[in-house]
Amino acid sequence: MKRSSLFSVVAIAGFSAVVLAGCAGAGGGTQTASSTRACVILPDAASSPRWEANDRGYLQKGLEAAGFTADIQNAQGDTTKYATIADQQLTQGCGVMILVDYQGAGVAVAAKAKAQNIPVIAYDRPIKGADYYVSFDNFTVGALEGQSIVDGLTAAGKDPKTAIVIYMGGDPTDGNAAFFHDGAVSKMEAAGIKPAAEPAGIWDGAKSATNFEQALTSVGGKVDAVWVANDTNAAGVITILDKNGLTVPVSGQDASVAGLQNVLLGKQTATVYKPIKLEADKAVATAVSLLKGETITADAKLDDGTPYIQVVPILVGPDKVKDVVAAGDATVADLCTGDVAAKCTQYGVK
Ligand code: GAL
Repeated sequence: MKRSSLFSVVAIAGFSAVVLAGCAGAGGGTQTASSTRACVILPDAASSPRWEANDRGYLQKGLEAAGFTADIQNAQGDTTKYATIADQQLTQGCGVMILVDYQGAGVAVAAKAKAQNIPVIAYDRPIKGADYYVSFDNFTVGALEGQSIVDGLTAAGKDPKTAIVIYMGGDPTDGNAAFFHDGAVSKMEAAGIKPAAEPAGIWDGAKSATNFEQALTSVGGKVDAVWVANDTNAAGVITILDKNGLTVPVSGQDASVAGLQNVLLGKQTATVYKPIKLEADKAVATAVSLLKGETITADAKLDDGTPYIQVVPILVGPDKVKDVVAAGDATVADLCTGDVAAKCTQYGVK
């Protein structure tokens, strides 16, 4: 998937705690109870802890501060449940839908909402037919991961051109997975890296461990680095590396508790921190602007023309873990347990 092209429209309404009173309905009608209902569907709780640990709270707070009633539900990794939740929400009425896609289930829901003149925001993952895609610059997320692999090899005295690198991508039904892959490959291939093995992409830590173990066997048990698309999968890969007494550069994203702990322990080179409050606030601001009929800026657009509103991701190595804690997206109590405690002291995580 090529990098999204840039285009600018006109200035976005800056996000603030906007009261929706007096907002016209999506269709320009008068405000109704449903028009102040924000219907949100989260994908699951297993692919990444972020959805329940971070996104839910930030979306709830942001939507309520903006005057919405927030109806936030989780499809629990089930496309049928995803559709049922959406039908129930639409029956009750939605002023706006904010959807995290799960295996394409969001496409049919977006179509149903659009048929009822309800604006749809594809949150974090792209959904064909949505009015806006609000997410991080996911090509850059991948590029940061890929660069961390290149830098990790160099630091280990390995030549990227001859290094044995296994690629562990995300679920291909998630449009972000292609962005992560293309961004990472843009940096790794530029350094001369080619994949020694690349199992099918997935968002599942346990299955990633199994897939990686099979890939490691297929390359003769030797590996110099592993590009992994997120922290949950990286934790699975690291259990296999540990089992084989291997410590090599490993990438990830989400700055999850497990990911940050592995970064502090030196088992994961870095994670890509995506300040989720910024993403949630952008989604809320976009929802308010849509309901108020305001013109909205997009930073880029997808190949299908969907306007893409982007948030900037941040690479976090061991020396920056303290910044995630300072931002309130991780706690010392959660991170500095067992053998991580000494690493917290070493890297100033307090
Ligand atoms: C992606 C998301 C990432 C990652 C993955 C698994 O779409 O952008 O944060 O964790 O899903 O949930």
